[in-house]
Order: sequence, then structure tokens, then C-alpha cells
Amino acid sequence: MDGACEVELRSGDVVRVRPIRDSDAFELQRAFALMSEQSQYRRFMTGTPRLTDSQAAYFTAVDHVGHEAYVAHSPDDETYIIGVARFIRYVSAPDDAELAITVADTWHGRGLATALLRVLTARAVEVGVKRFRAEMMADNEPILRLLRRAGMTDETVRGEVASGSIELAPPC
Ligand SMILES: CC(C)(COP(=O)(O)OP(=O)(O)OC[C@H]1O[C@@H](n2cnc3c(N)ncnc32)[C@H](O)[C@@H]1OP(=O)(O)O)[C@@H](O)C(=O)NCCC(=O)NCCS
Repeated sequence: MDGACEVELRSGDVVRVRPIRDSDAFELQRAFALMSEQSQYRRFMTGTPRLTDSQAAYFTAVDHVGHEAYVAHSPDDETYIIGVARFIRYVSAPDDAELAITVADTWHGRGLATALLRVLTARAVEVGVKRFRAEMMADNEPILRLLRRAGMTDETVRGEVASGSIELAPPC
């Protein structure tokens, strides 16, 4: 599948967004290793300094329906992944999917997560996902702002973890 597009961010930067591929495994590991400890912790909510080979294989060998992910690159350098957005449908509740987004620290605040969420949402609607669910650290202001703006409802906080869901509207 192709599904690649160029997107202009809030900052004015233009990036290329495309579905993830098996061959991205090594680059995904490299990009994750370059993230700050805080970003790594916020992504997995545990201390995870590196993605193992089996994690990287799982995160890249997606079927594009039950598990989908888009990566972003600089348009003039396809080598380096600067952001990833993914959903993984729950086997027991396939209308719902877990959402996760990660952006390289040097790209934070430019609108990349916002753009990735838009692309991922369109794909999710296309394959019949009706709701994203997300869990995040309760002090993770950037993702909370992003998801609230995307329409997050039933936001709850238990201890250090917040959760909520986003209803996905069909295109018409
Ligand atoms: C959460 C994350 C993906 C946001 O990526 P981003 O590309 O910087 O986000 P955007 O630029 O699209 O901005 C999204 C919102 O966060 C806000 N934001 C961005 N950086 C921020 C910061 N440092 N402090 C507070 N708010 C911030 C933006 O203002 C925007 O909110 P607004 O539209 O209401 O103004 C990024 O911070 C990240 O990768 N964090 C580590 C991994 C993680 O926490 N993932 C989420 C759990 S799965």
C-alpha cells in the first residue's frame, strides 16, 4: 500500500507521512533511543530505554487494519523517522483501538503530532474503527491538549495515569 502524503505543519515545516513498513524496525529503534528519558517514559509509562528487536518487529510488521501506524520523515531525507502515530484494535472490542503518538524531541511543538493524528484518524475511520482510547501520564500536558482538542471525552485520572476516548465521526 502507498498512502503517503506531504503535510504542512503549524510551524510551516513540510513533512512526508506514510504507513510504517517492516524495514523501519531498525530506524524505529534508533529514533526511540534518541528520545529524552522523559519522552520515553511518557510513551510507555515505564522506564524503557530501548526497543528490543521483538518490540521493533511487532511495531513495524502491522496488518494496516487491526494494527496501523504512520511515520513522518523530513521530505528531503527518508532515512530518519521523526514521528509515529499508531492504533491497535482491541481483539475483544474491535470497534475500539488504543492510540499512541510519539514525536522526536527536536520536533516537539511544531504541530507534527496534530498532523499525524489527523492522518491516522482518517485511516481508522476508513477501516471501521469507531473510537480511540488513550492512556497517558496525568501530567503529560502536550498529549492531553492534543487529545482534548481532538474531542476526548470521559477523561478520568487514577493516580498518575489519565485516560479518555475519542469518538471517530464517519466522513458523512
Ligand atoms: C505528546 C507529543 C506526541 C506531542 O507532539 P507535538 O508534535 O509536540 O504536538 P503538537 O505540536 O501537535 O501539539 C499538540 C498540543 O500540545 C501542545 N504542546 C506541544 N508541546 C508542548 C509543551 N512542551 N508543553 C505544553 N504543551 C505543549 C501544543 O500547544 C498543542 O496544543 P494546542 O493545540 O492546544 O496548542 C510529544 O510531546 C511526544 O512525543 N511526547 C513523548 C511521547 C508521549 O508522551 N506520547 C503520548 C503518550 S502515547
